Amino acid sequence: MPQQVKAVIARAKGAPVEVTTIVVPDPGPGEAVVRIQACGVCHTDLHYREGGINDEFPFLLGHEAAGIVESVGEGVTEVEPGDFVVLNWRAVCGQCRSCRRGRPQYCFDTHNAKQKMTLLDGTELSPALGIGAFAEKTLVAAGQCTKVDPAAEPAVAGLLGCGVMAGLGAAINTGNVGRGDSVAVIGCGGVGGAAVLGSRLAGAAKIIAVDIDDRKLETARRLGATHTVNSRTTDPVEAIRELTGGNGADVVVEAVGRPETYKQAFYARDLAGTVVLVGVPTPEMTLELPLLDVFGRGGALKSSWYGDCLPSRDFPMLIDLYLQGRLDLRAFVTETIDLDAVEQAFERMHHGDVLRSVVIL
Ligand code: APR
Ligand code: ZN
Ligand code: ZN
Repeated sequence: MPQQVKAVIARAKGAPVEVTTIVVPDPGPGEAVVRIQACGVCHTDLHYREGGINDEFPFLLGHEAAGIVESVGEGVTEVEPGDFVVLNWRAVCGQCRSCRRGRPQYCFDTHNAKQKMTLLDGTELSPALGIGAFAEKTLVAAGQCTKVDPAAEPAVAGLLGCGVMAGLGAAINTGNVGRGDSVAVIGCGGVGGAAVLGSRLAGAAKIIAVDIDDRKLETARRLGATHTVNSRTTDPVEAIRELTGGNGADVVVEAVGRPETYKQAFYARDLAGTVVLVGVPTPEMTLELPLLDVFGRGGALKSSWYGDCLPSRDFPMLIDLYLQGRLDLRAFVTETIDLDAVEQAFERMHHGDVLRSVVIL
């Protein structure tokens, strides 16, 4: 029987989000219905609301979530009812050219649920990132459910579903940060903060946090930054070079997504160093760099989608490290809120007051 549940939708461009009743179908082949326990508020949800992603309103928002599998459709073997799962937006297909070459973390044909969730009048919803988890229950592809140790609190576990994983992975997967490396992170919100934490986990010897907001620099210190630079008052490129013997950092993570900060990252890395762009630019942004500098400085200029994570490999491992006290994921949960407070949480996020607000259901 299709179920009616409460959920947060964005009905039209720029209009405040609203709590309404939606219809969740029974899971079909390869699908699962998940009872959501917690879901973080992310910039991408706000971008959907503002029409910055596409025009397929109404959107069912929310995508950084954890919950319990309630039911599964035909042929589902990877999860069963009762499993505690983190939802992911990289359910790999196993068959595309990237999967076949053993690089499923770049899968070009990821799965979502085939059936649609709807409003009561039958209007089809577009779930954010194929998830839609500001809802008591949601329908996803079974591969979007990654089982993790249920000892972890849902509010913490769910954050691995998007921004925090992106930042951790930018450092440990894409940037390949290793023991003894020097790392600089430009922009220390939820994503950049996670890159700081990931760098510490990977054994970086020097971790330089750069932001224009002193509150974020304080958090970055708690997460493992050894040095902080307020780039409103100090030139970050000079500061990073000074802190690295005049050379620049081995790895620079750009977690803002702007041409100015990308250029800072480009010039703040050592020769043969790596830049990782994990901040998401907007379509009108362009970058101009002397091509000779691109050549002459060597190294690697990479971008990181979702931290190049493979959920089945990374989520359980990161939750285990969290439960061992080796990865302070809890630091990202600034506040927990009710389903009807998402609009106000957008406001606080916009003003930089929070790392993450997490809706508890
Ligand atoms: N220089 C340095 N830091 C900056 C600058 C700048 N010019 N402009 C903004 N920042 C800082 C902000 O002060 C904030 O701490 O960047 C941080 C951005 O953090 P959040 O707004 O919390 O965003 P977050 O969730 O971390 O995402 C960062 O990654 O996934 C993408 O879409 C996401 O592009 C966004 C980026
Ligand atoms: Zn694939
Ligand atoms: Zn997100």
